[in-house]
Amino acid sequence: MKRQAIVAANWKMNGNLALIENMVSGLKGFTPSANVDVVVCPSFPYLAAFSAQMQQAPLNEHIHLGSQNVSEHNKGAYTGEVSTEMLKDVTTKYVIVGHSERRSIYKETSTQVAHKVNTVLAAGLKPILCIGESEAERIAEQTQTVLASQLQPVLDEVGIEKFAEIIIAYEPVWAIGTGKTASPEMAQETHQFIREFLAQQSADVANKVPLLYGGSVNATNCNELFAQTDIDGGLIGGASLKVDEFKVICSAAKGT
Ligand code: PGA
Repeated sequence: MKRQAIVAANWKMNGNLALIENMVSGLKGFTPSANVDVVVCPSFPYLAAFSAQMQQAPLNEHIHLGSQNVSEHNKGAYTGEVSTEMLKDVTTKYVIVGHSERRSIYKETSTQVAHKVNTVLAAGLKPILCIGESEAERIAEQTQTVLASQLQPVLDEVGIEKFAEIIIAYEPVWAIGTGKTASPEMAQETHQFIREFLAQQSADVANKVPLLYGGSVNATNCNELFAQTDIDGGLIGGASLKVDEFKVICSAAKGT
């Protein structure tokens, strides 16, 4: 069965207009491999500029714009929040939901994350649902329990069939921004667990869901990680701020 691969750049609260220009000119003429989508997720204020520049360039049709967060509400008195319709206005296609920094710093619960996934799907956008265990949880051998507890509220809210439109990013919290990547074997083992967890409800859907790995992915380790059976690309933080390195990582991804 064919499965989409995705490499997404999560710029977090980094970057500026100059980096947008660099990224767009760096990606001009770049063609992702067959069945690979490339997604760039800058901060909210830069989405419109990125959108305009990528259309003007123009960039390959498999290069898309994503946001790092979204409100679970559609509109109204939610000062400081951004809705799916606003994201669509600026041609955003993907939305990162439930990144571990949102969960730990901004106390987003798995229930709220599930609401956000639902809102994103209802708007016809693609959620990149982030899940992952902390170092203490890994040491206590609770990884699978934690991942299941992060996935279950989403399953309960949207149902397994909708997972065919969801991308999951497995990001061990201890590997994010630390330079400590999970070994390819450890990452594969965890990805396999995630796919099997979904397969309990539908083997067909589980086979379709792109499972991205995130956490200190760089140009050196991406080939080995992306070569694993259940790793369908990556969510890239630090290394995605360097345009040339990001392109190397994108080139390493292969759709199956
Ligand atoms: P990193 O971040 O690549 O800098 O570890 C990944 C992420 O948090 O999405």
